[in-house]
Amino acid sequence: MIVAKTLEEFIQARQALPHQESIGFVPTMGALHQGHISLVEHSVAKCSHTIVSIFVNPTQFNNPQDLATYPRTLEADCALLEKSGVDIAFAPRVIDIYPTPDNRVFDLGGLDSYGEGPRRPGHFNGVAQVVTRLFDIVKPQHAFFGEKDFQQVAIIKYFTRNLNYPIEIVQCPILREDDGLAKSSRNTLLTPAQREAAPHIYKCLKKAVEYAATMSPAEVIAAVTGEIDANPELETEYIELVDADTLRPIAAWSDAENVQLWCAVYARPVRLIDNIKIR
Ligand code: PAF
Repeated sequence: MIVAKTLEEFIQARQALPHQESIGFVPTMGALHQGHISLVEHSVAKCSHTIVSIFVNPTQFNNPQDLATYPRTLEADCALLEKSGVDIAFAPRVIDIYPTPDNRVFDLGGLDSYGEGPRRPGHFNGVAQVVTRLFDIVKPQHAFFGEKDFQQVAIIKYFTRNLNYPIEIVQCPILREDDGLAKSSRNTLLTPAQREAAPHIYKCLKKAVEYAATMSPAEVIAAVTGEIDANPELETEYIELVDADTLRPIAAWSDAENVQLWCAVYARPVRLIDNIKIR
């Protein structure tokens, strides 16, 4: 595996890959865990070569504290990637990705109007900035993203299509710890008491699937919020039931064919997100 730490090193390594073969790409912000490795495994199974980027993208953080404390573990990350059959690990500097400030404002089709969008202003535009720059540099045929960031995958699919990138966006299922907590780099920031409490989130999301059989959407949200917040370590920021295709919140079950529940929950100061298919 080649570790490219500058744009120049990456371009050299990328050019050395056979031109006719399919390139799979897994963009990450590092602090890799089994969830990322499962994306890598999907890529290795489907593509001739796999490239992983490790870049903590400053333009998608609207909270400077979150950016400053985001875990950075490059050596351990590269060791994991090497074992997983990756061809190139691309860990660029900020100047390689943003030689000048990126002022582009993306059309996200309104998919950023709900969920994380209003709570993290500029976040999805920052994701679009970095992902398009990485697509331009890496030139993959397939790119792999995890469903834990349900809204992010929908937005990436939207702008990839809208901007005519010839790239297939492959959506991969959420990977969970044995106790149900969705795998996330942020889990390492939890105190032992918070870590013990955090699986309660997924337990409550599973109850939402049951509640949906007899309750209205508003009743499901109220019940699940109450149950999560009953745990003293957790505090719900939001829970929404949305149309899984348009991402619009629903008021009645008849508003959408496919319904997803998504939420953000604080184990302060750590913010955890999760989601589940209701139907
Ligand atoms: O999901 C992430 O880790 C990031 O948002 C991504 C897609 C790597 C862009 O920085």
